[in-house]
Amino acid sequence: MNNYNFRVPTDIRFGKGQISCLADEIGKYGRRVLLTYGGGSIKRTGVYDSVLKVLEGFEIYELSGIEPNPKVTSVREGVRICKEKGIDVILAVGGGSCIDASKHIACAAFYDGDPWDLVLDNSLVKKALPIFTVLTICATGSEMNPGAVISNEETREKLEINHPLLYPTLSVCDPTYLYTLPKSQTAAGTADIISHIFEQYFQPNDGAYLTDRLSEAALKTCFKYGPIALEEPENYEARSNLMWTSTIALNHLLTFGKGGAWSVHPIEHVLSAFYGITHGVGLAILTPAWMRYVLNKDTEKRFAMYARNVWGIMDKNEHYEALKGIEMTEEFFKKMGLPGTLSEVGIDDSQFSEMAKEAVRTSGLQSRSYVKLETEDVEKILRSCL
Ligand code: NZQ
Ligand code: ZN
Repeated sequence: MNNYNFRVPTDIRFGKGQISCLADEIGKYGRRVLLTYGGGSIKRTGVYDSVLKVLEGFEIYELSGIEPNPKVTSVREGVRICKEKGIDVILAVGGGSCIDASKHIACAAFYDGDPWDLVLDNSLVKKALPIFTVLTICATGSEMNPGAVISNEETREKLEINHPLLYPTLSVCDPTYLYTLPKSQTAAGTADIISHIFEQYFQPNDGAYLTDRLSEAALKTCFKYGPIALEEPENYEARSNLMWTSTIALNHLLTFGKGGAWSVHPIEHVLSAFYGITHGVGLAILTPAWMRYVLNKDTEKRFAMYARNVWGIMDKNEHYEALKGIEMTEEFFKKMGLPGTLSEVGIDDSQFSEMAKEAVRTSGLQSRSYVKLETEDVEKILRSCL
């Protein structure tokens, strides 16, 4: 196992009715709250009313309309409100997009220049407002990690800001809030969770035995409960298992003792930066293509291990096992109703070369990923998804 520092300071309040803790917990930090949310799902589902009821007596200011793949323009607006109103706490109610924008606002509120500077240079983050979250879609793990992914339309970049000050202080994870998710978001969220696990599992270090077994259990949970959540949106067992899996899939637990750069996310981030597609959809399309591309004599063993331990595939031929595991993964995404090709989501090859360059420029693909990828490799992977 590699050396590893593990400290996750976020307080998780998991289960039905946990929202009631917010008044006491937020009250420890002040009374002026910036409530952030997306395009209005929380108003339709009633979560908005529950939040206002719990926070009666607090001074609430709102930033609504945070878009999926959140933009720096929303962050700038949030920072303006924080500075003007002397906000004490940010409460993000929604998914990764809303939480990520809120993290960025939380630190940009203490920065005098443009918020985008902090994305380009994370070391400029010196201070941040406390961030509370109420999670309404399980996918990104943003509720218990220090990362935020922000898009800049002007530069067509989608980049991460990551800093220990950006761990949420407390996150309310109530699985019943997931009941209203449309099928497409349940499917995309599950694909994102699975991809996070893969990104950490498919790394060269074979010595982190426990971490690998935890990852396999997390994958099995997604494969078991994803289809159930799709068919029975109010199945508490399915929703609660997926919700906790999404949190642990990206709170550093599954990378403990391992490390290395991610492979598929950097490629997906350019897809959503250029075409605005749903993150989990892009991952579902790219993942099987990436797996096939990097399968070789060196990687075969780990892919076969995945196939055996997660899918129960047993054969004398490791290469066959590995291929079968990839096939099962692809079948699973299909079963979840996710698109299998870029053409299905209206993406052609016209910008592949530019996108491949951007993916390599903004990541560790060339130097630290499971199988190192050059621009030409990324372009080939994209082409195989058409
Ligand atoms: O905007 P509203 O109206 O709220 O609707 C949202 C949005 O359209 C809807 N939704 C959320 N909860 C709902 C609901 N609809 C009905 N009922 C509910 N309970 O779902 C849509 C998607 O929401 P979003 O927040 O965009 O989804 P997600 O959590 O998947 O976040 C995606 C963003 O997070 C980034 C992605 O790149 C993308 O920008 N990521 C963040 C990471 C992190 N911070 O660690 C890591 C990830 O790899 C990822 O890159
Ligand atoms: Zn992701």
